[in-house]
Amino acid sequence: MKIGIFSKLAAGAAMIALTAGAAKAQESVEVLHWWTSGGEAAALNVLKENLQKQGIGWQDMPVAGGSGVQAMTALRARVTSGDPPTAVQMLGFDIKDWAEMGVVGNLNDLATEQGWDKVIPAALQEFSKFDGDWIAAPVNVHSTNWLWLNKAALDKAGGEPPKNMDELFALLDKFKEQGITPLAHGGQPWQDGTLWESVVLSVGGMDFYKKAVIEADAEALSSDTMRQVFDNMSKLREYFDANFSGRDWNLSTALVIEGQAGAQQMGDWSKGEWLRAEKKPGEDFVCIRFPGTQGSVLFNSDQFVMFDVGEDKRNAQLKMAAAVEDPAFQIAFNTVKGSVPARTDVPDTEFDDCGKKGMKDLAEAAASGNLAGSLAHGHAQPSSVKEAVFDVVTQHLNGQITTDQALERLPQAVAAAQ
Ligand code: BGC
Repeated sequence: MKIGIFSKLAAGAAMIALTAGAAKAQESVEVLHWWTSGGEAAALNVLKENLQKQGIGWQDMPVAGGSGVQAMTALRARVTSGDPPTAVQMLGFDIKDWAEMGVVGNLNDLATEQGWDKVIPAALQEFSKFDGDWIAAPVNVHSTNWLWLNKAALDKAGGEPPKNMDELFALLDKFKEQGITPLAHGGQPWQDGTLWESVVLSVGGMDFYKKAVIEADAEALSSDTMRQVFDNMSKLREYFDANFSGRDWNLSTALVIEGQAGAQQMGDWSKGEWLRAEKKPGEDFVCIRFPGTQGSVLFNSDQFVMFDVGEDKRNAQLKMAAAVEDPAFQIAFNTVKGSVPARTDVPDTEFDDCGKKGMKDLAEAAASGNLAGSLAHGHAQPSSVKEAVFDVVTQHLNGQITTDQALERLPQAVAAAQ
């Protein structure tokens, strides 16, 4: 008898719990992103757990492929079939493109309530807003002009970080003498483009980067300075290993972590892999600005765009956007991801030395006019132009076209894609 009453009560309680669970489960987000490496997934977990604590379910839609080219293809397919995901990781010009199509949600109320205008830097607002409306929630600021060095290999080579291209080549020669791969590079168009933009900045300086890449000036794109850029790219290629073709960026990072390679040029998401492998900046690895680019920052910012998927998802979308802009989340996420906060009012105390340097460099570059958008990561040109540049850069790096041909084709390809 007693057992019967208790089991009835228990069944009732279970029913209530189930109903409550069902009600909560309805509040969920489906998130399209390309954070599939170890470090990236660890950072994403911070967000997942944060939302789970608020009772918001997480439906994962990962699309592997650095810089998000494949993710954007997957997104087009979803939107075309009339079934866009709730929230999408997106970069710069892609945000503008989707906003123009009128398919994204408006975040103005939340932005006003949380005072985003005052704390999100102008360089990011440029992409988070469309026609004056907030349409994206910036998660972070990444930067691409970094070089990641294995500290033991660097010490063995004399311990002096290179400050310009000549010193970089001298260091890569020493790595070669050590019997390791001097430069771990993954031959994928976006990675070739990421290396290329650092070389453009190093060889030509910020004014040249702005002229050639941001303004897409035809003369700059075929200039003598650009010739030096391509010559340097050919020279760098001699320091890759035989298996570089098609390799994912995080596998190249792993080679440097394991000491099989000396260095990698890559954005600061690379640090996420080092941290994931329990390596420490200054002890196991050294982060420096790509030689010759000190004082300048090429940036990109991951932002979440909320698609207009109906009122029943709106609350979960707003909670997700609010969570992303929470200063505590900005610290928890970005210390794992390798990026720096998207807000200017977050202290650097919790960040490691590379993170502190990243924050300082960013603030200084913004103040001195030495901050510009990364082409390879969607913040300098629309995707069509970006991909046109990738084509030329990759063909040249793989020896399919000469430097003369690259200089001729680059302005043509850019003009055709505009
Ligand atoms: C994104 C980073 C990401 C990297 C590699 C970049 O475009 O901004 O968040 O870690 O691509 O996938």
